[in-house]
Amino acid sequence: MKILFLNPVGNVGGAETSLLCLMGALREIEPTWQLELLLGSKGPLEGLAQKLGVQTTVLEFPAAVQGLGESGGSAGVGGGLKAIAALWSYRQKLSQAIAAIAPDVIHSNGLKMHVLSAVARRGKARLVGHIHDYVSHRRLSRHLMGQLAGKFDTLVANSNDVAQDCHFWAGQTSRVRMVYNAVDPQRFRPDGARLDLDSLSQLPPAPEGALRVGLMATFAHWKGHRTFLKAIQELGDEEAVRFYILGGPIYATGGSQLSLEELKQEARELGIEGRVGFTGFIADTASALRSLDIVVHASTKPEPFGMVIIEGMACGKAVVAADAGGAKELLANGTTGVPHQPGDPSSLAAALRRLIENSELRSGIAGRGLDFYHKQFTARRMGEEFRNVYIEARG
Ligand code: GLC
Repeated sequence: MKILFLNPVGNVGGAETSLLCLMGALREIEPTWQLELLLGSKGPLEGLAQKLGVQTTVLEFPAAVQGLGESGGSAGVGGGLKAIAALWSYRQKLSQAIAAIAPDVIHSNGLKMHVLSAVARRGKARLVGHIHDYVSHRRLSRHLMGQLAGKFDTLVANSNDVAQDCHFWAGQTSRVRMVYNAVDPQRFRPDGARLDLDSLSQLPPAPEGALRVGLMATFAHWKGHRTFLKAIQELGDEEAVRFYILGGPIYATGGSQLSLEELKQEARELGIEGRVGFTGFIADTASALRSLDIVVHASTKPEPFGMVIIEGMACGKAVVAADAGGAKELLANGTTGVPHQPGDPSSLAAALRRLIENSELRSGIAGRGLDFYHKQFTARRMGEEFRNVYIEARG
């Protein structure tokens, strides 16, 4: 079996972390399978995939395509249509690359690659679209993907909620499978290196025994950084707690992200500067999560899955998450994580207060989260489920 993975970017966000975990698991389960990866832009994903033994090439997207997105106000549908012309010429090159590699299965990961692979596929290759997002929530994507749905042999959704959305835009007859993401167990585990988050944030050391509460996410507007900052303000001046925003902007999609400066400014305006640290980009996210006591997920829109939720669980941390979308499925009715209302700072503050004030609740949630991870979110389980998807698609 030869599988060609197509990913729009070389940077590592949630969909790429999921892909790396999957490729690593497949390597172990099916060592004779050939795995190749083609990226639309350069970035750390290239080297990380090569380390797993995945042959990787970059077929660079034209600039107009790299900036194309619907989440940013600036690009919008109009800008999107312009970039479609650029996509069309790229399609030709992609077609040739696919013909040269001659895979049995193409696994596309991300909207631009879904569209491109559906129009560029040639020959016997089967097409599996790994759907990480609510396609029907975006007008242009819904339209394009609705037109192209029939080109996919299988759509794989990352949660039950996303699977339901797939049926909505792709039609009831499309083959939709649900495979939950997983995390790399070697990296995400309770024991291991930790980081000095205070010095990374250029803050004086927190008082001895202080609890550390952090939000780690890409800087997309809907990831809820502002909700978190407002919740911190509501929590008041707690000596024994320090808050962190971990990470920085990573995607190139026009207008879709906050900047570090905007968030720091907001913290100043809320008067919470000094209680919240901004670490900037962190490559070793597992060590960063291990350095926290409470991991915060605060997306303001329904989160399709939410990698950080299971990463936090795998590191043995108490997780607080916005109760919507696929993320809701990970909270198991509040037993494996503490839910709060998406986009509501008071609700987030209340959830955090419960955990901050109650160490038993904290360790109970963390313990059940870790068990839940071991039962359902291991890399091996994900690899086996995808193996079955590929075999079924090949027929
Ligand atoms: C996308 C989704 C996120 C999910 C990730 C991996 O980034 O927005 O919710 O965790 O893909 O599937």
